[in-house]
Amino acid sequence: MWLVPDHAMAVPMLDHLKANNRAWAERMVSADAGFFKRLERQQAPEYLWIGCSDSRVPANEIVGLDPGELFVHRNVANLAPPQDANYLSVLQFAVDVLKVKHVMVVGHYGCGGVRAAVDGKRRGLVDHWLHPIRELNHEHAHELNELTDVAARLDRLCELNVIRQVKNVASDVFVQEAWSRGQELSVHGWVYSLANGLVRDLDVTVTRP
Ligand code: CO
Repeated sequence: MWLVPDHAMAVPMLDHLKANNRAWAERMVSADAGFFKRLERQQAPEYLWIGCSDSRVPANEIVGLDPGELFVHRNVANLAPPQDANYLSVLQFAVDVLKVKHVMVVGHYGCGGVRAAVDGKRRGLVDHWLHPIRELNHEHAHELNELTDVAARLDRLCELNVIRQVKNVASDVFVQEAWSRGQELSVHGWVYSLANGLVRDLDVTVTRP
């Protein structure tokens, strides 16, 4: 005979989230009866968002876009590493198939990934993932060391990371090919502030090869 352990009876089934979902779907339909029907047929987003996985940086909400309007890729510390098949697949699909007009790399101040990259503690696999930020930290040691405040130094590293990832995206072969066939495409670098909810444009937009 199977014994059912007590705790098995109490497995949380996330009912509150399912209830939220039903309420959300109803709200969307009551505001626009054809909303889901339209999206079911196709997506035609104009933007690709490459952002951090941090739960406090929800892509669509920050820029007020509905489902279907923003193609999203998120990972720890918003990296765009030229050897990452996941990121590259997203980028190629967005550029070649969806033909997005803008790619925004969106970092955020107070990024735990950026902090973890340079705090000297060993964490395992994520240390490998964050390696590009450690390299960036060495490359810009001179500039960063001028900042005596630790938080200010990390914030600048967050910005430098975004700038580097913009460079990665813009130099990617799919993006270069899109430009060479005359496709309209811009790559932007932004940083989001957890403190006030505002995005700052780092003015590093690239629009051609
Ligand atoms: Co982060």
